[in-house]
Amino acid sequence: MDGEKIIDESKQGLATMTIGLQQNTKKVYIESYGCQMNINDSEIVASILKGKGFNTTDDMKAADLILVNTCSIREKAEQTVRKRLEKYQSIKKINPKLKIGVMGCMAERLKAKFLEEEQMLDLVVGPDAYRDLPHLIEEVADGKEAVNVLLSKEETYADIAPVRLNSNGVTAFVSITRGCDNMCTFCVVPFTRGRERSRDPKSIIKEIQDLKDQNFKEVTLLGQNVDSYLWFGGGLKKDFDKASQEAQKNAVDFAQLLDMCATTFPEMRFRFSTSNPQDMKLDVLHSMAKHKNICKYIHLPVQSGSSSVLKRMNRQHTREEYIELIDNIRKILPGCALSHDIIAGFCGETEAEHKDTLSLMEYVKYDFGFMFAYSDRPGTPAHKNMADDVPHETKKRRLNEIIALQQKHSLLRMKKFIGQEVEVLIEGDSKKSNQYWKGRNSQNAMVVFPKTGHEKPGDFVQVKIEDCTSATLLGKVKSK
Ligand code: SAH
Ligand code: F3S
Repeated sequence: MDGEKIIDESKQGLATMTIGLQQNTKKVYIESYGCQMNINDSEIVASILKGKGFNTTDDMKAADLILVNTCSIREKAEQTVRKRLEKYQSIKKINPKLKIGVMGCMAERLKAKFLEEEQMLDLVVGPDAYRDLPHLIEEVADGKEAVNVLLSKEETYADIAPVRLNSNGVTAFVSITRGCDNMCTFCVVPFTRGRERSRDPKSIIKEIQDLKDQNFKEVTLLGQNVDSYLWFGGGLKKDFDKASQEAQKNAVDFAQLLDMCATTFPEMRFRFSTSNPQDMKLDVLHSMAKHKNICKYIHLPVQSGSSSVLKRMNRQHTREEYIELIDNIRKILPGCALSHDIIAGFCGETEAEHKDTLSLMEYVKYDFGFMFAYSDRPGTPAHKNMADDVPHETKKRRLNEIIALQQKHSLLRMKKFIGQEVEVLIEGDSKKSNQYWKGRNSQNAMVVFPKTGHEKPGDFVQVKIEDCTSATLLGKVKSK
């Protein structure tokens, strides 16, 4: 089993998504790869194109335009996209009028070069340029190649109401920040998504209100680094010091935003992702403790348990500081679930440093984890300044050790729920059988239980947990 597989399954099939709405003059087929942010961006793109006469289709053969939202985080993610491009090309052979566009991180990374590398591509658009899509599509219709990969200081798509795609009608993503300023040496995101900026809280609240009006029950606030959220009237986070004193004084940070969301919508449930240890302040934990409707689950990537590796990765914290944060979480939020991202075999990683990662995992005993072998990415500081010198076999072996330990801890954490009664938000039919519901508890554990005929998706129900695997809790609805 490898890390990519884990991320596909544990992020509940979010990694790959196709979408479908129908009936209009022009049809666009959109496919998304990568993070939750990409899925939300595809919803923003669907909204932008809807206003320009495009509806979406889930039949790529019926499409006038295929857009693929791409991921560059690891080489394998890019290879997956390349394979899909071959598939689209075969459709273009049957329908020569079909136009094909790439958006997202790979578009930003490769820019116009992408058009040279993939002959059948018509359009390349980066994550900050989606408003330009209607214009780019016109250029393509005129037989021109269209590229816009400009990164923006301001763009948050704040005013665009995403068209919810492939939705279960219960849970939705809402973006709150874009870009990242952290410059972890292994990571391509700061180059593909630009500098960090936050979205106006008023537009966030408005989007959640729209979701509530459509009966959605759970919102996940999204950003590369949500704890760094800071609204002071717009613009790049790094320019905060240049803002007026008034703007600085009235700034809204992440703890305040959480508080605002939870208070305004007491009947909805909130999650957020991703937290960065260096930016997670105690007041965020206190906001979580204060509100029952903020889920008790924190995705807190650590990448490595070794301070020397963390330093080479340019993570702005040590092993000890991370442990201190974990201790605070345990103190302020008893029973809060924790998950991680870990990279095996980063540049120069020794066996002793790898053991530090295993021992940190033993200390925390994470509920879930997303685990990857280090993948050297062109353009990153690690690529430029460090040797990708851990042999492939060693990386794989270390990754497998990390995965095995995580599975042990996941099972241990899940077993603790046996005998307990947990609140579950029903998301829909279980994957295996339509006689069962699936949903998640506050701690983000997937819960599967038989239907009784009295519940529907979107209901909060009490479930008594009777059994588990390392990935799923099994139980029965408690009769009222
Ligand atoms: N802050 C972001 C992180 C994006 S990347 C977020 O919102 O999740 C997600 C994870 O991919 C990282 O935490 C890291 O564990 C992994 N990753 C990033 N670059 C990588 C690389 N070059 N090789 C392997 N894994 C990588
Ligand atoms: Fe990447 Fe580090 Fe930002 S992992 S997204 S540079 S916090």
